Amino acid sequence: MRVLVIGSGGREHALLVGLSADPQVSELHVAPGNAGTAAVATNHPVDASNADAVVALARHVAADLVVIGPEVPLVLGVADALRAAGFATFGPSAAAARIEGSKAFAKDVMAAAGVRTAHSEVVDTPARLDAALDRFGPTWVVKDDGLAAGKGVVVTPDRDAARAHAADLLEGGHPVLLESFLDGPEVSLFCLVDGTTVVPLLPAQDHKRVGDGDRGPNTGGMGAYTPLPWLPDGMVARIVDEVVSPVVAEMSSRATPFTGLLYAGLAIGAHGPAVVEFNCRFGDPETQAVLALLESPLGLALHAAATGTLADFGPLSWRAGAAVTVVVAAENYPGTPRTGDVITGADTPGILHAGTALNAEGAVVSAGGRVLSVVGVGADLAAARAQAYDRIAAVKLPGSHHRSDIGLAALEGRITIPS
Ligand code: GLY
Repeated sequence: MRVLVIGSGGREHALLVGLSADPQVSELHVAPGNAGTAAVATNHPVDASNADAVVALARHVAADLVVIGPEVPLVLGVADALRAAGFATFGPSAAAARIEGSKAFAKDVMAAAGVRTAHSEVVDTPARLDAALDRFGPTWVVKDDGLAAGKGVVVTPDRDAARAHAADLLEGGHPVLLESFLDGPEVSLFCLVDGTTVVPLLPAQDHKRVGDGDRGPNTGGMGAYTPLPWLPDGMVARIVDEVVSPVVAEMSSRATPFTGLLYAGLAIGAHGPAVVEFNCRFGDPETQAVLALLESPLGLALHAAATGTLADFGPLSWRAGAAVTVVVAAENYPGTPRTGDVITGADTPGILHAGTALNAEGAVVSAGGRVLSVVGVGADLAAARAQAYDRIAAVKLPGSHHRSDIGLAALEGRITIPS
């Protein structure tokens, strides 16, 4: 099977490494990829969001399966163009990708499906902002009502900080979504979906704030671990039954069936799971940890989802133990990152590339905010953390930073579900 992966981040590098372990996968291509993906696939300098160019590349490499990583090409309809051209495609249509691209659509689907989620309100003019803020908080949850790679979210007990963020968004022409705060630890549950059948992956937890102890601004994600020792037995099945399957059925009944990876971001509260957000693609960096434990053939699983045959594929199998990924970010991330610095020590196993490129001399340099995702695997969370941080110690990138506490609260038993 010849597989083309679309995207350039750590998630796509992890997908390529996972696909390369599937004996059925004979050729791997990626567009545009990064300096690390070139070691496992052929990089093609094609714009991931240009549907015509992606279809032309899929024809050129005679792809048997195209896997779309990021949300932007999905929201722009790249999967629709590929399917129309006859390619088996892992990723939802533009209509179905609205589950991530339009928060109003996601809320409407959840209401119709009877799924628990935060109460919310869209504010599109500064004149309505103060009255709306009075109807929420404390704590205030202020989001950019569009795609913002996680960085448009502020969660704060401080009304002035909430107001300042909302006012900034509105001034930039972005409608603001205010949400009620959902109490409880967060879970990212990824599910393969083929329109009807839902197959969950291992649950993971992201660390969204930039600093240790969950301090500082939100980022796209600074690290993740899987599985979750604090998650009660049966919770994944409950999330599938109460959240994911009803949403998949509702989307199908609206003639916008979901095919690809449905990512449920949830808070586990006293009354069970409630949806923080849905995403229409694999999460980054959780994918880097989750796929490190996958035993089932990834290419066959994604092909089954793309071709409506997941029911025949059955549940996924996983190796025992735990996996942790730690993001190495460039100086100043999540602000405008410093780029162009030479990275050394990033060519060892377990180091996945995200914002990297080759310079004119052929050296690997930083080219984005989240530069590397360093993965550790072990018999338990402590061993997986130890391996990830050992690997990070060998990486040198001037000015870079990473969190030192990925998975630590879980390891120390400090994560509890409210009662
Ligand atoms: N881990 C957050 C995201 O992928 O959106």
